[in-house]
Amino acid sequence: MDATAGRRSLLRNILIRTIFCFVALIVIVEFAYVVRIKGRECGSGGFCFSPENPKISSVVVGAHQAAIGEASFDMWTSKQWRKSVDYFSSLFQDLIFEGYLSPDSKSLCIEMSTGEDVFALREIGVVDAIGISKKAFPPLVVSGQAYRQPFDNNTFDFEFSSNGGLDRSARPANFAAEIGRTLKPGGFVVVHTVAAKDAYSFNSFLELFNCCRFIRSRDIDNLDSSVPSIREIVLKKDIEILAHEESSPDRNSFKKCSVPGYKQEIIKNAEPLIEEEPLKPWITLKRNIKNIKYISSMVDVSFKQRYVYVDVGARSYGSSIGSWFKKQYPKQNKTFEIYAIEADKAFHEEYRLKKGVTLLPYAAWLRNETLFFEITRDPGRKVQERGRGMGRIQPVQSSASYAADVDKIQGIDFANWLKSTVSERDFVVMKMDVEGTEFHLIPRLIETGAICLIDEIFLECHYNRWQRCCPGQRSSKFQKTYAQCLDLFSSLRKSGVLVHQWW
Ligand SMILES: *[C@@H]1O[C@H](CO)[C@@H](O)[C@H](O)[C@H]1NC(C)=O
Ligand SMILES: *[C@@H]1O[C@H](CO)[C@@H](O)[C@H](O)[C@H]1NC(C)=O
Ligand SMILES: *[C@@H]1O[C@H](CO)[C@@H](O)[C@H](O)[C@H]1NC(C)=O
Repeated sequence: MDATAGRRSLLRNILIRTIFCFVALIVIVEFAYVVRIKGRECGSGGFCFSPENPKISSVVVGAHQAAIGEASFDMWTSKQWRKSVDYFSSLFQDLIFEGYLSPDSKSLCIEMSTGEDVFALREIGVVDAIGISKKAFPPLVVSGQAYRQPFDNNTFDFEFSSNGGLDRSARPANFAAEIGRTLKPGGFVVVHTVAAKDAYSFNSFLELFNCCRFIRSRDIDNLDSSVPSIREIVLKKDIEILAHEESSPDRNSFKKCSVPGYKQEIIKNAEPLIEEEPLKPWITLKRNIKNIKYISSMVDVSFKQRYVYVDVGARSYGSSIGSWFKKQYPKQNKTFEIYAIEADKAFHEEYRLKKGVTLLPYAAWLRNETLFFEITRDPGRKVQERGRGMGRIQPVQSSASYAADVDKIQGIDFANWLKSTVSERDFVVMKMDVEGTEFHLIPRLIETGAICLIDEIFLECHYNRWQRCCPGQRSSKFQKTYAQCLDLFSSLRKSGVLVHQWW
């Protein structure tokens, strides 16, 4: 072997070693980015974020390889993975530039099962980042539900929810509340959503995040370009808002609804009220159903805490809940809780068998008190109006002998019941057919502010209508006029409630 050949082989050896070391270094450095948690069992939250010893040693690398396994390793080198990570990196860099995120931010990514967003954060230098998803994906994602985060209060500076996590959530209110709980005061949350595009759903969104103040929103391209653009919303957790929330006024306090512009807009776009008294109300009002603009056909009703339908004067199940609400009301795929308020015992039995329907065997009234059916008591023609259900109701008279003579029913303070049953974060639809009592109930709802809780009402207004049987004759059953009904409808629309003329 001559000297030249010896030198060449030495050089080759050095070169190979250098390349080997370089590759090894790259591997270690890459792992150093990724591996930021020492093990999954330290600290009360089930793991710890920043390693106590920030020096990543080869021991960690070994442990790490055991933790990821072959499958994820393949994935991490795939094109799709890289594309995702780059997508998030670029969004996060924008957020850093705008000051909502910094390399020091303790960060949480919610429900991205394979943690591309967490990886992107760490890669751009936000090293104290972790993800949660139903199934753990170490070392990026630990196991946890968005609606019940496995973290202490005030843990994070930055939380991020992409991938339609909130849109898909069956418990959006808990989803948002948990972010509010684990975010530090002054921290930022960024949410991606395909909804919140109209003012109504955007406001529902903001109400859901009552922890936080709206900072900005913009439309961005989706990672999957076949899906239309998504909205990126930035919110900040404020200390003042929290203090305000804690001392929120009690439910019984009286208050006027404020009618925001977006509600006025919905009402402006609704079908107009029928101004002129119809000569054949039994035809005109029935036909009017074709003109009705349902709120859920005008706006996106996402981001509500619950979806509730209240049928006041429900009568039999089939008369309106089964035949109309279940079948025809546009529900945007939401599951509604149904309350049937019906005092007439004749209808109670069938509700016992209906799932998802809660029967309140009372009459909707102004106070909790015993009432009686006002029934035309011609001698010998007892209980003739029974079939009409909840008749015109009046407070019970003091005479005991008289009271014994009538059908006693329990009236409930309806405005109060509504306030204790639903909140402004719920989507509430109501049908009301109470044989004239609407002239007591509606003003009471408005006066107590309970009306603010209702999104949409289908109201049958009872007046001295022209009769089908006898042309030129008005019904003598009700004293109110059509004009008074119109006033009632107008007052509701002024209160921000989308009311429809029902029959
Ligand atoms: C955490 O926050 C929730 C609500 O935000 C509160 O009910 C709870 O008491 C807090 N827990 C602690 C330990 O402070
Ligand atoms: C409603 O849900 C069904 C089944 O979950 C789904 O196939 C359908 O696309 C949904 N429709 C809308 C409008 O979201
Ligand atoms: C009225 O009755 C309801 C239901 O029975 C009850 O929850 C409420 O406290 C009562 N209200 C008053 C003022 O008695």
